[in-house]
Amino acid sequence: MSLNNSPVDLRHIPDPPGIATARTLPAAWYADPAFHEHERRRVFRGGWVCAGVTDELPAPGSWTARTVGGVPLLIVRDRDGIVRAFQNVCRHRAAPLCDEGATGSGSLIRCPYHAWLYRHDGSLAKAQGVGHPVGFDVADYSLKPVAIAQWRRFVFTNVADPDATLELGPLAAAVDACPIESMEPTISESNERAFNWKVLLENYSENYHTPFVHPEIDTSSSEDYPMVSSGPVLYAWDRHLRPGADDDERIRSTLLPGEPGWERLFAAGTERPYDVGSYLTVWPNLMVNLFPDAMLAMWMEPVDAVTTRVERRMYLAPGRSDTQRAAIVDAHRLVHDQDIDICVAVQRSHSAGLDADGVLATFEERGVHFVHERLRAALA
Ligand code: FES
Ligand SMILES: [Fe+2]
Repeated sequence: MSLNNSPVDLRHIPDPPGIATARTLPAAWYADPAFHEHERRRVFRGGWVCAGVTDELPAPGSWTARTVGGVPLLIVRDRDGIVRAFQNVCRHRAAPLCDEGATGSGSLIRCPYHAWLYRHDGSLAKAQGVGHPVGFDVADYSLKPVAIAQWRRFVFTNVADPDATLELGPLAAAVDACPIESMEPTISESNERAFNWKVLLENYSENYHTPFVHPEIDTSSSEDYPMVSSGPVLYAWDRHLRPGADDDERIRSTLLPGEPGWERLFAAGTERPYDVGSYLTVWPNLMVNLFPDAMLAMWMEPVDAVTTRVERRMYLAPGRSDTQRAAIVDAHRLVHDQDIDICVAVQRSHSAGLDADGVLATFEERGVHFVHERLRAALA
């Protein structure tokens, strides 16, 4: 399914091709170490992956280390503010230049092992004490660059191709009006969770479970939860089914993401959490909830087949009272904990080798289908 310019019956976005005959993935795809290693190479080392958020990157002149797809990376913000990424490995004898999560700053990056010095552009400035190795030229010993790109507050890296260009497409642009950059960091968490990364991505990409796993969310029959996809982005949103008389209600009930007027959603008044939400799954590892008063984001780094590091961030719009802030934080915390619990339970079945041999709900699980199709394409 893709967003296009042709007229669409907005009540009946067609089922994505193949979903009616689709089946769930085998348990081994969530638990087998050999499969996971193959998948990690193809997915997390095969293209663009979210590596973090810009506001947590160091100030100009400093650097930090992140592991993406199992590859240690050094992420540098040079003194002009440009963010660069390199393999986090010294070109002498492979010492990491920075420990995972640690930061450094200064005019040169010094290897902790034998003190070779690198510039922020990755070039080797000095190899003190190296003597006269035949054919050695500092110009040949720069850090190996990795493609890096920013979209809004997010940083993406691509270890497969240093010249790659990030293209998120029109659905990412459909949230241009959301004032993400002015929201205030409120929660920052990093946890290792006992499930394969796809379990959380699938869970995030459907709303089928919401009335049952999250009974506190008001899922009255006044809304549905359509989805469209284009390229690596799946976009789901809360759509009102009973349009009121005013223009905002018309927008909330009839438009597709990115159509003229869509931007007004991000200034809509909200009376409750998950009232006016945009939900973006950015293949393969980023999940973003956008509301007029908050942004919730998660991204993942697989640790092994059955363990995933989940980074979770929340940002709140400025000007909210402490009471409002606490209510928003608590509501999302409850939902997050419920999602984690069901994902851990599902993983127990996968780890026991119990195949569901299931089908996908043709409307409600088009996002799960999106995840499976992207995975199959990456593995092909
Ligand atoms: S490993 Fe970095 S200077 Fe030796
Ligand atoms: Fe959920």
